[in-house]
Amino acid sequence: MNMRVVDLKIEDIAFGGKGVAREQGKAVFVPYTIESELVSAEIVREKKQFAEAELVEVKQASPDRVEPQCPYFGRCGGCAYQHMSYEHQLAIKWRQVRDALERIGKLKDVPMRPIIPSPEQYGYRNRITVHAQDGVIGFFRRDSHTLLDIERCPISRDEVNRALAELRASRNRGIRDGHYTLRASAGARVFSQTNDAVANALRDLIVDLVPPNQQLLIDAYCGSGLFAKALLDKFERVIGIDWDRFAIAAAKEDATDKETYIAGDVESELQQVGAVHPNRPVSANDVQAGRLRSIAPTTLIVDPPATGLSAEVRKAILDLAPSTLIYVSCNPPTLARDLAELQDQFIIESVTPLDMFPQTAEIEVGACLRAVPLAS
Ligand SMILES: C[S@@+](CC[C@H](N)C(=O)[O-])C[C@H]1O[C@@H](n2cnc3c(N)ncnc32)[C@H](O)[C@@H]1O
Repeated sequence: MNMRVVDLKIEDIAFGGKGVAREQGKAVFVPYTIESELVSAEIVREKKQFAEAELVEVKQASPDRVEPQCPYFGRCGGCAYQHMSYEHQLAIKWRQVRDALERIGKLKDVPMRPIIPSPEQYGYRNRITVHAQDGVIGFFRRDSHTLLDIERCPISRDEVNRALAELRASRNRGIRDGHYTLRASAGARVFSQTNDAVANALRDLIVDLVPPNQQLLIDAYCGSGLFAKALLDKFERVIGIDWDRFAIAAAKEDATDKETYIAGDVESELQQVGAVHPNRPVSANDVQAGRLRSIAPTTLIVDPPATGLSAEVRKAILDLAPSTLIYVSCNPPTLARDLAELQDQFIIESVTPLDMFPQTAEIEVGACLRAVPLAS
């Protein structure tokens, strides 16, 4: 094959963490680079619209370039940013959230708050999923489905690495091929946030954003109720919805009289919760006619998976017309799309990125929206 090595100037960092340069008018993506760097890179894939390249040499390094702490960095598919100072990782993530909201969501003057950093930049992950195949135990290689044998994962907590060592030791006895989720603490097999300290910061942020003395909280995609349980003092009733019945069972275990947890699809359940609400149903006409003020103040939290909200869920939110909507997102582009759809009825009050996953390109965001006040 005819592979070219080219000199490039890195201009930006794309979602997913690859550096972007231009060559003959075409975007070239180069992993493990930093904007402003001069590099030489080998073009390994050439498409009509863009090309992909592998870093050959950094010719002029960014002052933000640092030594990666993991021997697998560059091969493992997990981390994208170990070659960057932590401050710079934070700056890129903050900027990517703002850019997604402006470019994809077409939102203007986004009220961005500073990014909340992770107190631990390595050794933070409380769980990992490794794969075992033909005696190899580890993570997938970058951009591939072949496994990289991993002895230790430096972004994971010591307890997780001990579990990994045990799993690897049991290899001689022959373990089954497949996925193994290793956790820092035994117990909950349901969704839990990956970085305890930043999960607590996210929970505290949400508690701060929600006004006190309200009637009803709906925590959609509640998992085992992290947010709902932290907000009990502010509401007469809380309802959590998640289709993972193990998560719902965990949420119910220590539930008070105020709490109701529903094992079901947010899409259908949100419509029904709306329907049984005393002041339902609310239509788009009600909103336009300014009848919203008669409705009990309700807060809705949504924390959907990376795909974001379906059109039906967005519609249910507009019908439900909560006075406060908190949107927790692990994917800025779908957040941007959804906020664009919701913006007629809500004002975006604040957008706070959080660094739940240092060294990786993943970004967590908490957005706070308030119902548009209606003229009488
Ligand atoms: C990002 S997690 C949020 C968990 C929770 N808020 C927390 O902080 O622990 C997403 C949750 O949404 C649930 N989920 C995904 N799609 C759903 C759907 N259509 N209906 C109900 N639950 C859903 C998953 O089971 C998972 O618990």
